[in-house]
Amino acid sequence: MPTLAEKTRLHEYADPIQGWASDPELHTLFDLAKACTGKGVIVEIGSWKGKSTVALGLGSEAGKNIRVFAIDPHTGSPDHLAKRGGEAIWTFDEFKKNMETAGLTNTVEPIRDFSDKVAHAWNKPIELLYLDVNYHAYEPGKEDFLTWSKLVIDGGTIALHNTYPALRVVIKEGQPFHGWPGPQQILRRFVLGKRGWRNIRIVDTTTIMEKTKESRSGDTLQGFYMRGYGETLLLAQKLYQLLTRMPVPVKKFLKRIVISGAKH
Ligand SMILES: C[S@@+](CC[C@H](N)C(=O)[O-])C[C@H]1O[C@@H](n2cnc3c(N)ncnc32)[C@H](O)[C@@H]1O
Repeated sequence: MPTLAEKTRLHEYADPIQGWASDPELHTLFDLAKACTGKGVIVEIGSWKGKSTVALGLGSEAGKNIRVFAIDPHTGSPDHLAKRGGEAIWTFDEFKKNMETAGLTNTVEPIRDFSDKVAHAWNKPIELLYLDVNYHAYEPGKEDFLTWSKLVIDGGTIALHNTYPALRVVIKEGQPFHGWPGPQQILRRFVLGKRGWRNIRIVDTTTIMEKTKESRSGDTLQGFYMRGYGETLLLAQKLYQLLTRMPVPVKKFLKRIVISGAKH
């Protein structure tokens, strides 16, 4: 966890920026960046206006000051564009201003392009990779995951956003669910219960995993366990949605049953 002073600084700069990362996710990104040793750089794919970039940048400065490459064409994700009926998106000016405000222009290097184009010419080892392209669909996310995870060093970390739904964020922060089938499918097919990964954690909608060359059955088992945990979160989401969509009289009736059950 960031120290109190680090948290205060992080929230001072991250909170005014519009974005989708929850507080625990910001703290985790900060910690992951702070823990980087310098064996590789930090890469973020999908920066929007820079909320998560600020967490990575400040975390890096609190640690070994590893360079953060923030890759984004700044023209929005396909799903986002579709929702806006073709209206153009341009977030680079705000992103730049936010990095300046946070004093991160020497640590964060923006790369204004699409991840697949950048991947072709990429030549630096990566110690921490944060993927947040809002992949609702499986295919584009899968390509990014497979291409970029190969560039992560042994012992390096990948954090993938929008994986499992976080009921806590929905209830406490009033955000909609941010777990999408695309990232879930990526985790099921390539990570959870597969060899090559260890220390898998889920923080709100972000799944964090460490790449490893070692092949230990304990790691695979832990991956299976996290898969079960993720599926339980999906079930809880379905149940929550079912309950919230029920007509008010039915909800009141159920509440009365639960309350009278609790009294006996
Ligand atoms: C959900 S937003 C990122 C939010 C940001 N990480 C935050 O915490 O506020 C997704 C971003 O991905 C970017 N994007 C879409 N397709 C991309 C691609 N192929 N490569 C890199 N970035 C992409 C969009 O421009 C958009 O800014």
